[in-house]
Amino acid sequence: MSKDLNSHPAGKARLETVGGAHEFPIMAGTVGPSVIDISKLYAETGQFTYDPGFTSTASCESKITYIDGDAGVLLYRGYPIDQLAEKSNFLETAYLLLKGELPSKREFDEFSHAITHHTMVHEQMRSFFSGFRRDAHPMAIMCGVVGALSAFYHDSTDINDPHQRFVASRRLIAKMPTIAAMAFKYSVGQPFVYPRNELDYTANFLHMCFAVPAASYQVSPTLARAMDRIFILHADHEQNASTSTVRIASSSGANPFACIAAGIACLWGPAHGGANEAALNMLAEIGTVKRIPEFVARAKDKSDSFRLMGFGHRVYKNYDPRARVMQQTCHEVLNELGIKDDPLLDVAMELERIALSDEYFIEKKLYPNIDFYSGITLKAMGFPTTMFTALFALARTVGWVAQWMEMIEDPSQRIGRPRQLYTGYTERAYVGLDKR
Ligand code: SDX
Repeated sequence: MSKDLNSHPAGKARLETVGGAHEFPIMAGTVGPSVIDISKLYAETGQFTYDPGFTSTASCESKITYIDGDAGVLLYRGYPIDQLAEKSNFLETAYLLLKGELPSKREFDEFSHAITHHTMVHEQMRSFFSGFRRDAHPMAIMCGVVGALSAFYHDSTDINDPHQRFVASRRLIAKMPTIAAMAFKYSVGQPFVYPRNELDYTANFLHMCFAVPAASYQVSPTLARAMDRIFILHADHEQNASTSTVRIASSSGANPFACIAAGIACLWGPAHGGANEAALNMLAEIGTVKRIPEFVARAKDKSDSFRLMGFGHRVYKNYDPRARVMQQTCHEVLNELGIKDDPLLDVAMELERIALSDEYFIEKKLYPNIDFYSGITLKAMGFPTTMFTALFALARTVGWVAQWMEMIEDPSQRIGRPRQLYTGYTERAYVGLDKR
């Protein structure tokens, strides 16, 4: 890792508040906004900052992913997402996110061999699945099964042991595709398919999802490439809600499997990773191009809780660079599958055109995000909508693990424990039942 990748002092911020003037150090990183270090604010002023949703708050220092929301830039360890999507593969990108540098051929072969040879799960986990109802949502299964990994792999739960951290991270990355495929097979009532070591990471996943014992199954190289690219796009995204959940869960010393399960639970929400499922359901509800104006009007109506799923982003106030690659991948998959007139794609394309020219969306800087086109692509590949967020979780596991490793190794990190602005009752005496 380059030695000069560190924060450095960049002046002081002066704050006039209770008790007079206070100065706090400004720290700058290699690129992007500098920060005001307010860690001593409460001790010096008796006041907290107040920032619901953390729109202006940096929770940590990180070297993994950089986003410039205004310029529509996303870098994994400095490499632009569109270059990685075009030239790299998911497992190489995983190595990059975890280690900080692209691997040599020998390093990649060793990493790939290690992941390949840890893709099977403990055989007893099969019976764990049978405890779920057949119609259980795959994300409910993923939350349960991933959390249960800590009940099967006790020898990699001590986060203070660097070797156990390495083993846990390898197990999580290697086994997530197997667990996601098992969740899919269970939900469609088909037998589980074991991983196959002669297949690469993403082809192996597609084989476990779509092969059946009754016939041989060849993974389409085009679909495997598209799936692999979709995994690259979803691998990491700096301190988003689910990554922050993993970090705060890890800050208490919880074992890595429990922390990743917490991230999966957070990702499930429709405002976050659940948006791909919600976006496709929305396109289906709109149904035809003619009904788009009705839904655009609802999205603008403050009294209506409806939002255009797949639009808007906390950070991107320009086009999400991943959405552009996703749209291109969507067309490649539809062409490969010979799907010419997908009505959902027609609605999506027209909705995007209308939204990008509508004053409301322009003023609020609402652009399509990664979730807008992924649903159409994944549906065309044969996945039910309920599997979309599980695929997001599969890919994001690499980012969660990379961020978890970085946090554990950061000496400045302590248990995450925000404060509050209290507006409840001041102290009052208990009133007996006979006097209420
Ligand atoms: C992901 O953080 C990450 O990096 C996440 C992610 C990742 O890779 O980890 O990128 C993945 O979660 C992508 C986002 C997927 N979610 C959706 O597509 C759901 C729809 N989008 C919205 O819910 C919303 O845009 C958020 C949650 C994504 C962002 O919410 P913010 O930043 O809190 O923005 P906001 O809710 O404060 O909205 C700002 C304004 C509001 O209007 P006003 O109150 O200012 O009048 O824009 C409006 C909102 O009403 N608005 C929308 C809208 N999104 C925001 N109006 C209509 N449709 C929308 N989709």
